Amino acid sequence: MTQRTLVLFKPDAVRRGLVGNILSRYESKGLTIVALEQRTIDAAVADEHYYEHVERDFYPPLRDFVTSGPLVAAVLEGDEAVEIVRALNGATDGRKAAPGSIRGDLSISNRENLVHGSDSPESAAREIKLWFPEL
Ligand code: RTP
Ligand code: MG
Repeated sequence: MTQRTLVLFKPDAVRRGLVGNILSRYESKGLTIVALEQRTIDAAVADEHYYEHVERDFYPPLRDFVTSGPLVAAVLEGDEAVEIVRALNGATDGRKAAPGSIRGDLSISNRENLVHGSDSPESAAREIKLWFPEL
């Protein structure tokens, strides 16, 4: 079933020059790009995106990180795109993510873990509306 999902190339991916490497993994898999834009977000947008985490103790440093520099937001589309992006991204903690996944190959951190992918079709719909209301 064709689906859309929201992907973020977090500020570490931009700083490290890994946007092309990561994007090519999604494209090579067969997902198509619906939208792609570099942005720098403020704390208010970070809080909306991560609304379910704002009260958690790990959130203040996460907010500092996602607002620390430009990131690239994208909407990707394809059959079961939500689940496929999560699989390509790998486990949240780059130190534990499987080799072959984006985080497993390229991240050694639980915070600077390069990418975000919507965790369900409902989250994808909410996040796409937040990041790309014109779609
Ligand atoms: P993301 O939303 O960034 O794609 O990551 P995720 O779904 O794999 O993980 P999620 O549970 O949504 O957590 C969002 C981000 O918060 C940080 N985190 N730290 N216990 C902790 O210290 C903890 N739990 C989560 C991670 O940086 C994660 O990317
Ligand atoms: Mg998440």
